Amino acid sequence: MIFKILRFPHPLLRKKAKAVKKVTPEIIRLIDNMIETMHAAPGVGLAAPQVGESIRLFVADIGEGPIVVINPKFIKKSGKQTLLEGCLCLPGIEAPVERAAHVKLKGLNRQGKPFELTAAGLLATVLQHETDHLDGLVFIDRVADPSLIKYVDRKKEKREEII
Ligand code: NI
Repeated sequence: MIFKILRFPHPLLRKKAKAVKKVTPEIIRLIDNMIETMHAAPGVGLAAPQVGESIRLFVADIGEGPIVVINPKFIKKSGKQTLLEGCLCLPGIEAPVERAAHVKLKGLNRQGKPFELTAAGLLATVLQHETDHLDGLVFIDRVADPSLIKYVDRKKEKREEII
């Protein structure tokens, strides 16, 4: 099932999402539908609040297969990188965002088992962009200079910029 993606400034996108207490069959169904929605969009990441569920989980896929992270928490961040970002909730807008270049994240996987994930480059940016969604932040909040925010034709945006 493909979900409708909320558009900024929907109030739910500004809410701090609640931790997932138990990975129920309902949560697994939500995850699978979120992966389908992300692929259909197309985008490289999708957080639960973007589809109207204010809970702490997201999915990502930079072309290496889907990743699911429930209750993500960064345990290490280092370096800096600036990548061009867009967001499924802000179609037609892109801007360069500076974030950590290397990250280590812990959370639960689709089966509810604890795991750790180390990432660099695009995936590091995606993990930070999605975790921001769980804290009520969107990428334009992180743009140092508002004059760098550009309006673009969504059809011309690269898939890897749409997080
Ligand atoms: Ni986004």
